[in-house]
Amino acid sequence: MLIAAILLAVAATPENTAMQHVPGEQAVDPYEINPSNAGAAPFAGEAMARAFHGQEGIRRIVERFVASNFADPRIGEIFANQDQVRLKRTLFEQFCYILNAGCSYTGRDMKAAHKNMGVQQGDMNRLVENLQAAMRAEGVGFAAQNRFLAKLAPMRRDVVER
Ligand code: HEM
Repeated sequence: MLIAAILLAVAATPENTAMQHVPGEQAVDPYEINPSNAGAAPFAGEAMARAFHGQEGIRRIVERFVASNFADPRIGEIFANQDQVRLKRTLFEQFCYILNAGCSYTGRDMKAAHKNMGVQQGDMNRLVENLQAAMRAEGVGFAAQNRFLAKLAPMRRDVVER
C-alpha cells in the first residue's frame, strides 16, 4: 500500500510528466520534463530573468540567436538540416529555465543533443559570439550577459569533441 502510494506520487511529479509530440517539429523522444538535462541549475531570485526582459526577451534572444547560427558562414553547416522549430523551442526552455524565468526544460541532455556532431572549440567560440550579439541586441546588461555565459561554459565538455 505504502509502495503504491509512493509510486503514484512519483508518477505525478512534474519531472515525469510525458509530453506529446509538438506540431511543426520532428519527434525526438523522450518528451519529458527533466531539469537535470538542462545542464545547469537555475539562478536564484528574479534578477537574471529581469535582466533578460522575462520570457518575451528570452524568446527574442533565442529567435535571433538560432537564426544567426543557421545563417552563419562558419558554423551554419553544422545546423543545416537540423530541426530549427524544435531547437528554438527547446533552447528557449533551457535558457528560460536557467534564468529562472518560469519554464521547464523538455529537451535532451547536452551530450546526447550534440553527439557525433564534430563540434570543435572554434565552433563553440563562434556560437558564443552569436549569443553575445543576440543578448546585446536585446539590451541585456554586460554583467548579466557574462553571468549567463559562465553558467553555459561548463557544458562545453559535453558539446565539443576532439
Ligand atoms: C554551451 C553551449 C551550447 C548549449 C547550451 C547548447 C544547447 C542546445 C540545446 C538545448 C539543444 C536542443 C536539444 C534538444 O532539442 O533536445 C541543442 C541542439 C543543437 N545544438 Fe547546441 N548547444 C551548445 C553548443 C552548440 C554548438 C557549439 C553547436 C555547433 C556549432 C551546437 C549545435 C547544435 C545543433 C546543430 C543542435 C540540433 C541537434 C538536433 O536537432 O539533433 N550547439 N543545443
